[in-house]
Amino acid sequence: MRIKRTNLVVFLILLVWSAVLYVTISFKPIYHSDVSSSYNVDRQILKLEHGISEQFEKNKNIIKNAHKLLEIKKAGDVSKEKTLPKELQEVKLPILVFACNRITVSRCLDKLLKYRPDPDQFPIIVSQDCDHEETRDTILKYGSQLSLIQQPDQSDIQVPPKEKKFKGYFKIARHYGWALNQMFFNFNFSTVIIVEDDLEIAPDFFEYFLGTYPVLIKDPSLWCISAWNDNGKESLVNTERPDLLYRTDFFPGLGWMLSKSLWMELYTKWPRAYWDDWIRDPAQRKGRSCIRPEISRTRTFGKAGVSNGLFFEKHLKFIKLNEEFVPFTKMNLSYLLKVS
Ligand code: UD1
Ligand code: MN
Repeated sequence: MRIKRTNLVVFLILLVWSAVLYVTISFKPIYHSDVSSSYNVDRQILKLEHGISEQFEKNKNIIKNAHKLLEIKKAGDVSKEKTLPKELQEVKLPILVFACNRITVSRCLDKLLKYRPDPDQFPIIVSQDCDHEETRDTILKYGSQLSLIQQPDQSDIQVPPKEKKFKGYFKIARHYGWALNQMFFNFNFSTVIIVEDDLEIAPDFFEYFLGTYPVLIKDPSLWCISAWNDNGKESLVNTERPDLLYRTDFFPGLGWMLSKSLWMELYTKWPRAYWDDWIRDPAQRKGRSCIRPEISRTRTFGKAGVSNGLFFEKHLKFIKLNEEFVPFTKMNLSYLLKVS
């Protein structure tokens, strides 16, 4: 009885299986005419052709970028072995670091010291405002690796009532005016790189400024070299081309180099506040440009600061910091000069 029942079940399964096979095979879509079938094949071939040529272009670009990177790497190896080009050996580029009351200035100083190739060529001068003792102690711990100067005028600044909450910007401008006068007139430097205490630098920060220095000096239509790309979010930059540099009409600041000749122009009319907006006015800019990189050579970690970090959360913290060392001092940067 049991065997009979099993046979019946097996028979039924076979029957259902045959029915399924029959339906699948007999309802398979059939192309009704030769015309539509060849049309479809044509379309498939065209699509395939298009895809292949698209991929071909992409591959070409990948290879091009890889070659470029290889070139950069090779030049980088050479630059580690050989000394600087003669005309750059005597150039002195001091770094002026602005500090006030944040002990996190150490994060900025640690990176500067880590990547500085030569202390004589790149002396670091930290200028401190605000008389904040802990910050001063933090800076002094670095000993002879850097120098400390202190902004002596800590008097209260008279600010129009409407601008009371912007007093910080008045203090910053006062500090900038004093410290730049020190750098150019007291220490007699002919070029200065400005860094703020909430900036962290890229490995080739010094190489970038030294490499672009001759361009700044040669071209009177340039008035600054900046380490910052204001649109430098990871998704917006070409991460395969850390060597790319541009001219920009917008003053980016945030790690920048100026020469004494520009300071001679600016110091007599230096503003009481909002110096970075003021410097962008046509009256100051006079049609001149700055050089800026595709990928920033500074990053800001200044969440707490005079502008209260609003802009930081929305924008600044997303700016990508370059990681690849680009040997700018060994590269031909004459393409940045204005063709007149
Ligand atoms: C913003 C700019 C900054 C510019 C400043 C001037 C950004 C991300 N930052 O400052 O580049 O210089 O506006 O308008 O766009 N400091 C003093 N004295 C003070 C307070 C601050 O010397 O009383 C120093 C700080 O140490 C720092 C610098 O000024 O090095 C800027 O101060 P911060 O608090 O970072 O202000 P931001 O809003 O970033
Ligand atoms: Mn800041």
